[in-house]
Amino acid sequence: MLRRLHHEQPESFAFTQANQAWAEAQIAKYPEGREASAIIPLLWRAQEQEGWLTRPAIETIADMLGMAYIRALEVASFYFMFQLQPVGSVAHIQVCGTTSCMICGAEDLIGVCKEKISANPHEVSADGKFSWEEVECLGACANAPMAQIGKDYYEDLTAERLGEILDELAAGKVPTPGPQNGRYASEPKSGLTSLSEFDSGKTQYNASVARATEIGDTVKRIDGTEVPLLAPWRDKGAMHKPADPAVKVRKTPAEIKADAPKPAKNAKADKTGITKQEAQATTKAKPAAKSAAKPVKAPAEPAKSEVPGKKPRTMKAPRKAGADDLKMIKGVGPKLEKLLHSLGFFHFDQVAKWNDEEVQWVDLNLEGFKGRVSRDNWVEQAKLLADGKETEFSAKAKKGGVY
Ligand code: FES
Repeated sequence: MLRRLHHEQPESFAFTQANQAWAEAQIAKYPEGREASAIIPLLWRAQEQEGWLTRPAIETIADMLGMAYIRALEVASFYFMFQLQPVGSVAHIQVCGTTSCMICGAEDLIGVCKEKISANPHEVSADGKFSWEEVECLGACANAPMAQIGKDYYEDLTAERLGEILDELAAGKVPTPGPQNGRYASEPKSGLTSLSEFDSGKTQYNASVARATEIGDTVKRIDGTEVPLLAPWRDKGAMHKPADPAVKVRKTPAEIKADAPKPAKNAKADKTGITKQEAQATTKAKPAAKSAAKPVKAPAEPAKSEVPGKKPRTMKAPRKAGADDLKMIKGVGPKLEKLLHSLGFFHFDQVAKWNDEEVQWVDLNLEGFKGRVSRDNWVEQAKLLADGKETEFSAKAKKGGVY
């Protein structure tokens, strides 16, 4: 089956405030320069919020992680758990069609979906509420046949019961997930045959069903307010602080921005000698009244001792022939290219000349992408590209449109 972006896409995507905070907490789990490791949970959260993965969502997440869009799309299109087309507004039904479920009646369940939702998988029903698909084994074979609806498993299904569940969902109810034939887990239908003295009858539901009913966290879209945001690996808002105060905890992007060196209030942004962050801070500062203008010391750059390394020579603008395509350097995506431009770097030969100290300076000044220069060995790549040669990456990128 071809997995492509849907032909109709929304204009934009944004995480809800709570989901944004959640996403930033996930990114903070990974070392600087390795933020892309958070791609799957972030895509999943976006899907939980919207129901399916839109192109703007994939691109927004790629930007958050400093990835080329194509890399994020590769992940989204590889895993079948990501829905690349619109799904029902109430629920998307995933019926397991693998062996155990198949011999226990999965085909009947699919028949119900065809009859009540749409003739074909991945088609939204006429009322827009439902969609369905057949999926591979979901690991609940002992309770076959089963279907996943939203986050929950509905097990020990019959065609009749699945039909009722769809009716209940359409009426705004949330049917109780778990086994639908009275079983607690995967014991015999007639009850325990051994260790029966441990059959306490303690709870109505097994643990996962009890949890789902307790937090009401089932078919609905996830806006991030369902459960408290716990991020114990961070210092703020965490339940647990590191026992050892020497343990470094990563800051949030907002904290990094707040702590970044800022120019004095009235300083003008120097296009060539000021970081993007500083330039933004300066642009936002209100211009001082003429009469109140006072000579300002040049504070744009932090004291030398605070910024290891040496700032390379920069340019105010690209040469007449235009900037080089810095995205031909492996590790540079559209967002990072813009950042490099804002720092005064437009050409391969600029990058090719950086010495160790200069690499260190640039590495530290790539807000959100720290360490990229040395991680991907930009200088060596840029030397080849500046000489008109290709790197393995640039050759592939030109051939296949990698970014
Ligand atoms: S075969 Fe259906 S859950 Fe495993």
